[in-house]
Amino acid sequence: MHGSEVRGGFQYPGKTYAGRFAHMPSANTCVACHDVHSTEVETDGCVACHRGVEDIRDIRTRHLDFDGDGQISGGIHTEIVGLQEQLYAALQTYAAEVADAPIGYATGTFPYFFNDINADGQISPDEAAFPNRYQSWTPRLLKAAYNYQVSKKDAGAYVHNPAYMLQLLYDSLESLSEQVDLGMSDLRRP
Ligand code: HEC
Ligand code: HEC
Repeated sequence: MHGSEVRGGFQYPGKTYAGRFAHMPSANTCVACHDVHSTEVETDGCVACHRGVEDIRDIRTRHLDFDGDGQISGGIHTEIVGLQEQLYAALQTYAAEVADAPIGYATGTFPYFFNDINADGQISPDEAAFPNRYQSWTPRLLKAAYNYQVSKKDAGAYVHNPAYMLQLLYDSLESLSEQVDLGMSDLRRP
């Protein structure tokens, strides 16, 4: 939520990043949105301002096609997920082609990145074992993987600070694109 003020992501040198997301004053603190005890999100307040949405993931106030899929009808959540998927594919391409060691991600299994031994693009339960943790990092791969992990660990980033998350994902893709062939031309950085 605090963006570049706390540097939760890896920020690439020479780029500027969004600071704290200034939502409306009444939706600008953790406890304005989350119940203090259960941490559940109280969505009645959201839909009082964001009218006409069925699901809070459909909320959108900025209308550029950030992930380059030609669609701007979904929530800003769809743009973040779109870039996240492209970044995952890019990490795999880079790891296979440049580091010569295929990589995969296992949600919820420390330390998350593992050798994709059979290079099938998936991390199976036997591959997601600590001794098989990924260790063929290059500096470029580690930075981009760090930001992928930041995005995976904050499922609420599209509310907490969508611009900051879009910037981190875009810049990670851009960095990898200096070494492997990625279609960057349709992507937009906020
Ligand atoms: C504008 C409203 C809003 C504010 C402010 C806000 N959150 Fe959230 N937060 C959400 C919503 C909405 C989700 C759920 C996203 C989803 O699952 O689609 C969420 C999700 C989360 C999650 C769960 C993420 C997950 O993996 O499921 C945590 C933890 C969290 N918020 C912590 C915080 C903290 C700490 C703060 C203050 C620094 C904060 N939030 C501020 C709306 C808010
Ligand atoms: C008082 C009115 C108000 C309330 C309450 C409110 N919002 Fe917002 N929200 C806004 C405004 C205005 C913006 C645009 C802010 C900006 O871009 O500077 C916004 C932006 C957003 C965005 C970013 C959209 C985009 O395209 O980047 C999301 C997501 C969002 N709100 C979700 C929520 C959720 C979820 C809640 C309830 C937990 C909530 N909002 C409560 C007024 C509100």
